[in-house]
Amino acid sequence: MDDPPGVAMTGSSGERSERSPAPRGGSRSGPAEPDEAMRFETRAIHVGQDPDAEFGAVNVPIYQTSTYAQPAVGKPKAYDYARGGNPTREALQHVLASLESGTSALSFSSGLGATTTLLLTLKPGDHVVLADDVYGGTYRLLARVMDAWGLTFTTVDMGDLVAFANAVREETRLVWVETPTNPFLKVVDIAEAARIAREAGARCVVDNTFATPYLQRPLELGADVVVHSVTKYLGGHSDLIGGAIVTSDDELIERLTFLQNAAGAVPGPMDCYLALRGVKTLALRMQAHCRGARAVVGFLQAHPKVTRVHYPGLPGNPGFEVAVRQMEDFGGMVSFEVVSRDEAIRVAESTRLFFLAESLGGVESLIEVPAPMTHASVTGSPLEVPDTLIRLSVGIEHPNDLVADLERALG
Ligand SMILES: Cc1ncc(COP(=O)(O)O)c(C=O)c1O
Repeated sequence: MDDPPGVAMTGSSGERSERSPAPRGGSRSGPAEPDEAMRFETRAIHVGQDPDAEFGAVNVPIYQTSTYAQPAVGKPKAYDYARGGNPTREALQHVLASLESGTSALSFSSGLGATTTLLLTLKPGDHVVLADDVYGGTYRLLARVMDAWGLTFTTVDMGDLVAFANAVREETRLVWVETPTNPFLKVVDIAEAARIAREAGARCVVDNTFATPYLQRPLELGADVVVHSVTKYLGGHSDLIGGAIVTSDDELIERLTFLQNAAGAVPGPMDCYLALRGVKTLALRMQAHCRGARAVVGFLQAHPKVTRVHYPGLPGNPGFEVAVRQMEDFGGMVSFEVVSRDEAIRVAESTRLFFLAESLGGVESLIEVPAPMTHASVTGSPLEVPDTLIRLSVGIEHPNDLVADLERALG
């Protein structure tokens, strides 16, 4: 493969194989623990995924069942009803806990299902501090759903640590971080956010959807909880909707396990199987996404019609130093600005390899204009984004083909 053009960067370009050891546990009732010293790439394939005991199938079977026959009244074997538990789901939870360096994980029907369930741990009057550039759906949930249930929140630029610390109140129970953010790829210092949350007696939650545990492990940096839209890089093939929560907080996981069953936002076994299959190649895919993004950024920076490029790996980016410290590489998301709304729409409608679509994190490259698409729900709010902004999810196609596609579209 030819070397793609690229921008200078620090951080590993994916050659690393020494990863932190697997934590004890995983989800609570998974298969036997493999060697804790295994590297990330190995754990992605083996944790929770022993060959099936009866036939030796090397993939976790899709336990497509809603209920389980019980040998005696009130004495189920392992599971009684599939909203409460499913072996395919357990396997996924087990590997996600390991990859995020947590002791427990729960998977959900969507990223927002995970977020909603986490917010259900709060009470009326509780307060959430939210990054001012979070995923629009997270903001919408707090601003237009949970407000009626008495939750309050404050949005703040978490890059400004003074403003961040001032946004925390006595009633603050969660500090909700997303890094890199969507769509500006701003970087939040997770260790600092965790410190601010801890001092306020609140939990620090990090939405790690954009970075994935391959590039960034918030729990190792002091965060209490990680949430994911599994729909994105973890699944990796644009063929499922899913979510996850990972933590090492036993009290929280007990409450969440109850809420997962009580509120019911559980994933189906087929989606769990697809997510498990996706996770096996997460390391390889992330290396390719990062490589492609660097090539695309190098091209965009030099293009006369591009007025600004947002990418955590640019030394001019205010979050660059923090990104170098807390991420292994800078990820596959890039956004850039052009001169007008019409030009943004024209470019987004002109690419051939980059499909015009919402979402991100799949093997195929996607392009979108956030203002009228993914971020339409935050129009008129503090999270509103300029309509001259274009967001790219750089897939794993050959970087040179992606650059050629953008070159053709920009003209
Ligand atoms: C960063 C982030 N978090 C959460 C979500 C919500 O995930 P889902 O679409 O799986 O509900 C999204 C969706 O785009 C996202 O981008």
